[in-house]
Amino acid sequence: MSDAKRPDKAEHTDKTVRVFTTHSSEETILLGRELAKLLVPPKVLVLRGDLGAGKTTLVKGIAAALGAAEPEEVTSPTFTLIHEYAGRSVEHDSLGNTVLLYHIDLYRIEGQRQLDTLGMEDLMTPQSLILIEWGEKFPSITERSDGEIVLETLPGDERRITLRLGS
Ligand SMILES: Nc1ncnc2c1ncn2[C@@H]1O[C@H](COP(=O)(O)OP(=O)(O)O)[C@@H](O)[C@H]1O
Ligand SMILES: [Mg+2]
Repeated sequence: MSDAKRPDKAEHTDKTVRVFTTHSSEETILLGRELAKLLVPPKVLVLRGDLGAGKTTLVKGIAAALGAAEPEEVTSPTFTLIHEYAGRSVEHDSLGNTVLLYHIDLYRIEGQRQLDTLGMEDLMTPQSLILIEWGEKFPSITERSDGEIVLETLPGDERRITLRLGS
């Protein structure tokens, strides 16, 4: 797990940018556990990366850190579109506050009209942490997002995972 917690690079301007490398799904779950500390509600984040990059795997770690679900309970919302998990904040200043984790997959959604039928507006509460796979397909989402987590597939099981927070 060595490198999973160690940023390769950190920039501190008005944006938070952190880059990590993982070498297995287990390391990506551990990284999700760490990143959960930075994801203070309310937030909307796009999870960007190819099929199989590890977006859902990362959510397993985030959900686990929040006590919202065990990794094996977090499955891809490819067909169900939205999964909701209730957990508790792990961030120091808001320790124990309720977090509503919404894991959304828009792979199969075509066009803004179809997106509107999901009623995502209703999910945006002060407690919400909304993680959206394939959210970059929709300008209406990227414009309103608080950042993104980009997962790049490198040779073998290596993944480069970049967190960008802030605007
Ligand atoms: N470093 C890694 N991080 C995450 N997943 C990995 C890694 N190496 C291999 N994998 C495998 O890649 C797949 C990622 O699947 P998944 O998380 O569902 O991707 P996505 O949601 O991006 O389509 C899983 O089969 C997982 O075991
Ligand atoms: Mg997925």
